[in-house]
Amino acid sequence: MPSPLRITQGFVALLSLFSGMTDAASSNSQAGAGAGASKDLRILATTYNGTVLPYSVDPSTSSFDAAPANVAAKQFGQNPGWVCYAPSFSTGSRDASRRILYIADGASGNMFAASLKSADPLQLDPIGQPVSSKGQEPVSCSVGHGASANMLFVANYGTGSLAYFHLDPKTGEIDESSRQTYQFTREGTGPVKDRQDHSYAHQTQISPTGDWVYICDLGADVVHRFQITAAKGQQAAKVEYKGDTKVDVGSGPRHITFYPSLADASKKAGDDKMYAYLASELSSTVTAFEHDAATGELKQLGKPLYPFPAGTPLSGPGILPTNRTTAEIEVSPDGRFVYVSNRGDKKEDHITIFSRDAHQGTLRFEKWIGSGGLLPRHFSLSSPADGTAGYLVSAHQDSQDLVLFKRNVQTGDLEKVKKIPDVGVVVYAGFLPA
Ligand SMILES: *[C@@H]1O[C@H](CO)[C@@H](O)[C@H](O)[C@H]1NC(C)=O
Ligand SMILES: *[C@@H]1O[C@H](CO)[C@@H](O)[C@H](O)[C@H]1NC(C)=O
Repeated sequence: MPSPLRITQGFVALLSLFSGMTDAASSNSQAGAGAGASKDLRILATTYNGTVLPYSVDPSTSSFDAAPANVAAKQFGQNPGWVCYAPSFSTGSRDASRRILYIADGASGNMFAASLKSADPLQLDPIGQPVSSKGQEPVSCSVGHGASANMLFVANYGTGSLAYFHLDPKTGEIDESSRQTYQFTREGTGPVKDRQDHSYAHQTQISPTGDWVYICDLGADVVHRFQITAAKGQQAAKVEYKGDTKVDVGSGPRHITFYPSLADASKKAGDDKMYAYLASELSSTVTAFEHDAATGELKQLGKPLYPFPAGTPLSGPGILPTNRTTAEIEVSPDGRFVYVSNRGDKKEDHITIFSRDAHQGTLRFEKWIGSGGLLPRHFSLSSPADGTAGYLVSAHQDSQDLVLFKRNVQTGDLEKVKKIPDVGVVVYAGFLPA
């Protein structure tokens, strides 16, 4: 089992980066930084009002607030819907006082690069010019690590294509001239006619080892995979299509996540088993897979599960005409729980808690709890200070609010702490990663 300690070092870096600590303070020992656990956790939320908004959580009091007024909300296109981060300090050449990130704007089809300064937490500074993803509605992106280091992968939902780029390892700038696209296709139309008339690429996700990239194709009911061979000398990294994993017809695979989730240089393929968990939007189900790090294959473990109590209707009175649909999925850092957001309830939506069998990798429905709003399109677990994630923030697109939960790391349970209303049409709320 991967030890929670593996991520401590990254978090120490994060603490020093975003708490405005001086260089001297940030070179404290791990123990010293552990005592700094009262430092605020940071969140970036994106809205279809065009804004990228900073929030903070003080773990000593669980207070949850918009970042100070002097940290301006920034406009990044019209529908910024996703943020992906370069792994911190993954190369020695990056300016260690900055964190580099990328924002996908679904309206313009552009990718924005930006950096966060340590001296001015959550102040976003654009890097270079926005770069077209050569597709409609980019809704998700990932920055590589390991073999895929210094690469950016983008899922163009509307077009059903993958775009990828090389990144300047020093500045993080997107190299527009390196852009490649890969068009997915499907035969005919799937059972959900208006969503499955062609491929719709809903997410890019990178395997824990960094050499596989997965794309959830909601339109074609498959998860595509590409193998990445690391750059060598003057030769750029190679990206090769290696096939797909078929899932239930009409299920609409949306988001997949891995456990363990973090790259670990000491892990050799085959040492430990790796798993993947898929939220399928149209069938409103969750599917577990074993991930073969050598071949990239995803082997399904058992049947897809519903993220709600037995007998809960998928459609009908009190449910939106779009039916119940899953949205985001995340595994807790210790691998004991999997969380899934559910949309479609007219009164209040839900976040589901599954427990996870450490040996089999399978899931068991535990319960679902009110999410505190409507249409939780996205949520995220806090970046772990000590190998645990003490908070979950849920982004509600329809009720236009954010809800913070305290997470009981023993039981997996969530307790509502606070709602921030009038955020805008919020579609993403991510704790800054460790
Ligand atoms: C909603 O679910 C019902 C079954 O409960 C199904 O017949 C119908 O096609 C679904 N509608 C949509 C929009 O997916
Ligand atoms: C965001 O846009 C929606 C309509 O698209 C509007 O109702 C809402 O007031 C806006 N919110 C903010 C905070 O600008």
